[in-house]
Amino acid sequence: MASTIHKSVMPAEVLSYLGLKPGDRVVDGTLGGGGHTRLLAEAVGPTGQVIAVDRDPGAIAHGAEIFAGLPVRFAQANYRDIPEVLDAVGVDAVDAVLLDVGLSSDQLADASRGFSFDADGPLDLRFDPTEGEPAWRLVNRLRPESLADLIYEFGEERFSRRIARRIAAVREKAPIQSAREFARVVASAIPRQYPPPRIHPATRTFQALRIAVNEELKSLQIALERTPTRLVPGGRMVVISFHSLEDRLVKQAFRNTQVWECLTRSPVDASEEETSRNPRSRSAHLRAARRLPEPGDATSA
Ligand SMILES: C[S@@+](CC[C@H](N)C(=O)[O-])C[C@H]1O[C@@H](n2cnc3c(N)ncnc32)[C@H](O)[C@@H]1O
Repeated sequence: MASTIHKSVMPAEVLSYLGLKPGDRVVDGTLGGGGHTRLLAEAVGPTGQVIAVDRDPGAIAHGAEIFAGLPVRFAQANYRDIPEVLDAVGVDAVDAVLLDVGLSSDQLADASRGFSFDADGPLDLRFDPTEGEPAWRLVNRLRPESLADLIYEFGEERFSRRIARRIAAVREKAPIQSAREFARVVASAIPRQYPPPRIHPATRTFQALRIAVNEELKSLQIALERTPTRLVPGGRMVVISFHSLEDRLVKQAFRNTQVWECLTRSPVDASEEETSRNPRSRSAHLRAARRLPEPGDATSA
């Protein structure tokens, strides 16, 4: 990735909820195009440290290039493994963690990754193209009932059974390969609606497959459980999510009053000014929490 087209969501809100000071140590668990990372690096200054994580090797290579010479360290890893990443860089606990989950505009624009409906490239949908099973293989392999369940569970798609039956009929003739072909197959299984919906008819099915191949909900759930163990008492966590399945997990985790003081009663959304400038921010929900001290913690919040 030579440069980024990704616009970071709710930058001012992220900074305000993370409450960083010069000298702080912070993990950006979703480096992406590096916009948030840059803000975090500026907030903690030269005496602080940013540890930037992403599953996508392309995002890490780009970050290493644009942040050369700055106090930012990189790890190509899953954010559910933040404790292992911190062990590897010799850091015990950090002051803040940011997760801005999902996919970046750079990934969406890269036709070879298959994230976009009109991409000619293979329907891959993996954040880390070197790990796990690409979506086209899943689509050609799963029994129609399992495919329908997956599309229903992770896409909340009410036409999941019709879509799975149509996929099964098409792949009998030849395996489905490209994202564009897959989007067409899905769209052809959905009854025409009036007025036409605002989103592409394959949106929910793509979301379901992406969640499945990347184990997105599982990763988020694990990260929410494991991250507080590596936050200092009073340390902050901010999570930005883009659909209700993710937001539900964050909301439930931050409700645990043994671990967190929740700082956002309801999710924070992007301002009108931001949504008009960056339409992607329309579906973003930000939640923040502060780690409570455990009995025996040396410092209190
Ligand atoms: C919305 S983008 C982040 C954008 C970034 N905050 C910025 O300002 O440019 C999400 C990024 O998270 C990465 N990602 C998604 N799931 C991940 C996971 N479980 N572990 C690590 N990175 C992940 C994706 O590869 C993508 O680059």
